[in-house]
Amino acid sequence: MEIKKVGVLGCGLMGSGIAQVAATAGLNVTVLETEQRFLDKGFRGVEKSLAKFAEKGTLKEKPEAVRARLNGTLKPDDLADSDVVIEAIIENIDAKREMFTKLDGIVKKEAIFATNTSSISVTEVMAATKRPERFIGLHFFNPVPLMKLVEVIRTIASSDDVIETAVEFGRRLGKVPVRTSDKTGFIVNRLLVPYLLDAIRAYEEGVGSISDIDEAMKLGCGYPMGPFTLLDFVGLDTTYYITNVMFEDFKEKRFASPPLLKRMVMAGWYGRKSGKGFYDYSDPGKPVAMKLV
Ligand code: CAA
Repeated sequence: MEIKKVGVLGCGLMGSGIAQVAATAGLNVTVLETEQRFLDKGFRGVEKSLAKFAEKGTLKEKPEAVRARLNGTLKPDDLADSDVVIEAIIENIDAKREMFTKLDGIVKKEAIFATNTSSISVTEVMAATKRPERFIGLHFFNPVPLMKLVEVIRTIASSDDVIETAVEFGRRLGKVPVRTSDKTGFIVNRLLVPYLLDAIRAYEEGVGSISDIDEAMKLGCGYPMGPFTLLDFVGLDTTYYITNVMFEDFKEKRFASPPLLKRMVMAGWYGRKSGKGFYDYSDPGKPVAMKLV
């Protein structure tokens, strides 16, 4: 099956990024949102990002040509002839199921449905539709236009053809697809989350300061960001949500949230997006490490 038309649900950070890479790959994309202002905000981000790529000479055509393949809509019916629909709405099982049940009755039967969830069971979302063999996970990474990976997630009901089409589609978007199965956290978060939580525990135990732990992991392991910079980048609320889902599923200590993470989330310190997390972003260009223990 050839994918020509892409539907994206949600125009937040992930949805707009997915829409951008699909349009950059020459595909026509329709993004569904609940309010025009969310579409406007998401597309403004896409325009900025495309301008950066154009400046660097890594865009094959003019940014306006890519932008012209992106449409926003508030009407689910506009997704009816999509070949693939990728959901990137809020990490809430009920919201995702409700959205897919609605679209199942609208979008053509042959279309593939994919969720970009990072922690919710793909199978549980799939069960809200009548197309189990055509339902998969496609997990992209933030920032989508720069991160090369996409996890292609198979449930026990996904068909081989659909998985292979999704792998090809991932390559078409300029990503490197890896195959994984519907086990909470998939590959990346299964390994990344315990590492991030361990960094918080190490800090709580006085192993090092926030900036020293970050420097150590950057320079000692060649990671692009230290664990606290990455935690603030991903969002502490998001990380806390993911750890809770993983702990619920596996009942293993390594997935349990350290008390400090929970308290920071309760205080509304979500990281970069709220201006404060393990760093203070009062001057966004010069984050200052916090002293929290
Ligand atoms: N579009 C286009 N260009 C962008 C961009 C975007 N959205 N964001 C940044 N850039 C550009 C920057 O402007 C910069 O350009 P110049 O070289 O001209 O200055 C360039 O890309 C590099 O960016 P930075 O200088 O800011 O920093 P960097 O070299 O460290 O790269 C990074 C940024 C790719 C984000 C890198 O730090 C990195 O790989 N960090 C780790 C990110 C990560 O692990 N993400 C996964 C999070 S986990 C997740 O997403 C899954 C989940 O389920 C929670």
